[in-house]
Amino acid sequence: MKKEAVSLQHIKKANDWDTVIFLYKSALKEMRTKIDILNDEFQHFHRYNPIEHIKSRIKTPESIVKKLKRCGHESSVENMVRYINDIAGIRITCSFTSDIYRLSEMLTSRDDITILSVKDYIRHPKESGYQSYHLLVSVPIFSSDEIVNTKVEIQIRTVAQDFWATLEHKMYYKFEGNAPSHISKELRECAEIVSQLDQKMLQLNTEIQSYGTTS
Ligand code: GTP
Ligand code: MG
Repeated sequence: MKKEAVSLQHIKKANDWDTVIFLYKSALKEMRTKIDILNDEFQHFHRYNPIEHIKSRIKTPESIVKKLKRCGHESSVENMVRYINDIAGIRITCSFTSDIYRLSEMLTSRDDITILSVKDYIRHPKESGYQSYHLLVSVPIFSSDEIVNTKVEIQIRTVAQDFWATLEHKMYYKFEGNAPSHISKELRECAEIVSQLDQKMLQLNTEIQSYGTTS
């Protein structure tokens, strides 16, 4: 008989830390494999890799507890499953913004994952200047007695956006959110330069491609 998938917060064992972490680790592996195959498929059919680099991680227990506290929730396994969306996280870097949208289309059109939310900080950058494309998805994890839908956060960025986000993140931590205003201002200016660079590189690439192949 076909089993119905349930979300992680509805399983009985969801109060067991080890089981929950096991499910997030499995979801991360599943999602990473799907993305790797997507990239291979693209290389196979179009001789082109939309992905430059993939990184994945499970949030540390310390960061989980810190985030729950910051959001005003008690530290419990139940709250972490309910309120924290980035326990399993994947970061994909691409060369061009067109690759990001192509990849997003390929992921959102699949029927083996469910898209829970999409945040386009490229078309709508954050106040800080942050640009990236975020997808929150859920992946069914099949165990011997149940199917559990488990959340994975996917961040997709260009190499230039990643460079910016890494420096901004360091600054944020260094000053614990209270950075000198001139540094924040200059970072916002850099974000604008990153956006112009990405647009210019995309235009150039399109022009280079239009010349066709020479050998
Ligand atoms: P978080 O609680 O911070 O995870 O934010 P959220 O649940 O409102 O989601 P959002 O999509 O805004 O951010 C998720 C993740 O994107 C963060 O955990 C960071 O990895 C990244 N991010 C968001 N905003 C910024 C920013 O201003 N600077 C940098 N460097 N990273 C950011
Ligand atoms: Mg986060």
